[in-house]
Amino acid sequence: MSNLSASSTDPDTLTPIAADLTALNTFGLASTAQAYVRIVSPRQLPALSALAKRHGRVFVLGGGSNVVLPSTMDGLVAHMAIPGIRLLEAREDAWVVEAGGGENWHGFVDHCLRQGWDGLENLALIPGTVGAAPVQNIGAYGVELDQRFLGLSAWDIERGEMIEMSARDCHFAYRDSRFKHDEPGRWLIVAVRFALPRPWRPVLDYPDLQRHPALASLPPAGSIDTRTALSARAVFDAVCAIRREKLPDPAVIGNAGSFFKNPIVTADRHASLRQRYPGLVAYPQKDGRYKLAAGWLIDQCGWKGRSMGAAGVHDRQALVLVNRGGARAADILALAGAIRADVKARYGVDLEPEPVRP
Ligand code: EPU
Repeated sequence: MSNLSASSTDPDTLTPIAADLTALNTFGLASTAQAYVRIVSPRQLPALSALAKRHGRVFVLGGGSNVVLPSTMDGLVAHMAIPGIRLLEAREDAWVVEAGGGENWHGFVDHCLRQGWDGLENLALIPGTVGAAPVQNIGAYGVELDQRFLGLSAWDIERGEMIEMSARDCHFAYRDSRFKHDEPGRWLIVAVRFALPRPWRPVLDYPDLQRHPALASLPPAGSIDTRTALSARAVFDAVCAIRREKLPDPAVIGNAGSFFKNPIVTADRHASLRQRYPGLVAYPQKDGRYKLAAGWLIDQCGWKGRSMGAAGVHDRQALVLVNRGGARAADILALAGAIRADVKARYGVDLEPEPVRP
């Protein structure tokens, strides 16, 4: 089996190799691909489409931070690694920035801040690639990707052509987009464009951010020119500190971030749950419904810190499942199933997994 470094080929052609994917998924699940190609340039895309016809099934792998990989991957695994970050336009109302789908997300956010292109700081330290970010419409600490998104270029693997998509075309919703619903393996997100609003305004509404020592002493929003009081870098640092405190580092302990979405329920359902469980953590939505904190529900069921075989629940954030060493997809899925059953039995709420299962 290849160690992957041997996989580079002629820039316009692609030769699939067998590959070990264990180090290419942040859960660290043991997984092997029969046919793996690494895409480093748009010039390889026609060759990818030709290969896809032969292999039938294609799975696009980005940073591997939101997947539960099976032990054996059938079909073709296309590893997206196209790099590049550039400023497309310095508009008066926004910096327009484009990044290759293979860029590391956190590295991209950091790079933007260094250039003075502020606005993505709340999304610091989210594992994964730029190309995967629109798939699940990543979000954290009060900002969601679609609020900064301008457009993307996606390669239609099936038809062998590049398609430009606007935000509307992507059907963004909470941790959701068309890419989770269209035929699996159809799209490869090659480049993503962002509009980062000028002048910059910090987003500090999320409770954890308001409580953070570096930000708690600020005057109320609007009372001063926020840019003179605070830098985007300070928000970035605070977000990184909060995440490091709560979320396990995949380099140390395998995980895929939040394993479940926060479920959204009707106002009636929320009211009856709150009556029975006054401590319920819930956030009102614009449409009148409520988003429940799945981590709280799981925690209340007593799962925090527990294990089932090699799969476990993180001891500081019950929404995160972890690989305690040598776990396989089946271990993670068995634990997830037990948690879902408990939450359903106690609260009548269905939890939906966030990571993708190829
Ligand atoms: N809570 C508990 N026990 C727990 C975990 C959480 O009681 O074990 C409570 C917390 O006390 C808090 C509430 O639940 O009152 C929400 O917790 P937190 O602020 O940690 O956020 P979350 O809803 O669990 C979401 C995202 C995270 C994102 C944070 C911050 C989802 C599925 N998850 O988590 O995203 O970083 O908000 O914005 O929406 C990810 O998607 O992988 C991810 C990490």
